[in-house]
Amino acid sequence: MSAQIIDGKELAKTMREEIAEEVKKLADQGVVPGLGVVLVGEDPASKSYVTAKEKACEKAGIYSDDNRLPADASEEELLALVDRMNEDPKIHGILVQLPLPKHIDEEKVLLRIKPEKDVDGFHPFNVGRMMLGQKAFLPCTPHGVIQMLLRSGVQTKGAHAVIVGRSNIVGKPLANLLLQKAEGRNCTVTVCHSATKDMGELTRQADILIAAAGKPEMITADMVKDGAVVIDVGVNRVEDSSKKKGYRLVGDVDFEAIKEKASLITPVPGGVGPMTITMLLYNTLESAKNHMNGSSK
Ligand code: GUN
Repeated sequence: MSAQIIDGKELAKTMREEIAEEVKKLADQGVVPGLGVVLVGEDPASKSYVTAKEKACEKAGIYSDDNRLPADASEEELLALVDRMNEDPKIHGILVQLPLPKHIDEEKVLLRIKPEKDVDGFHPFNVGRMMLGQKAFLPCTPHGVIQMLLRSGVQTKGAHAVIVGRSNIVGKPLANLLLQKAEGRNCTVTVCHSATKDMGELTRQADILIAAAGKPEMITADMVKDGAVVIDVGVNRVEDSSKKKGYRLVGDVDFEAIKEKASLITPVPGGVGPMTITMLLYNTLESAKNHMNGSSK
């Protein structure tokens, strides 16, 4: 059996059109949603994510305040920029691209972003509310994965979802969301990580397998059950001298082999990535709506 490919680009396009329509309606009422973006340093992968985010904002009619700081920028400089964006009424969402250079305290920076502008959903206030199932900004990649499952008609209720990876950005929040008693969630959840014994034994039990470990093609076909839904969150650059750029992008799963076993699978690129950016636009729009309705959240 060859899997059906979940086309993240197409799903994202549909959602972005829906968002752009709402942005226009809001703008007609005098509120243009705005996103403040900060990139510190020159990391090539971060640069290309940030550029993609800024382009997507422009296309959706969202105002984007783009900021680049050098790799040796001080923590104070970054905090001052966050403070400025916290107070700027044109900005409804703030995104500080991670990871930050080692000399900057990431936790301190994330705590400085006002929770009502935290469209990444990384502030402990939003993490706590999400955990409790309360209204909160949901982190973009996990939320994008949930939307993909929902919009692809995957039966999640009672399904065994196995997540590989326990990062604060993807694995942990995704486990929490999939656990919640709601449409497109309601799974039994297992989280695997670097200390997991016999990972294959667990991943082979997955009805929905989500790879978010950041290790190129670590999920091999023998680790996947026939007919599983496979979501690949990994984006890894591997050297490839046959490519003009000298590298190619691969996910955390061995796509070519696993597509012969899975029922549904996401490609890399063109899978989860475009959905992550879409959910950022969604959160920025939500924040602007909250602002217009005078709600603090
Ligand atoms: N680095 C990798 N993913 C993300 C993300 O979703 N948001 C931010 N701010 N940084 C990231």
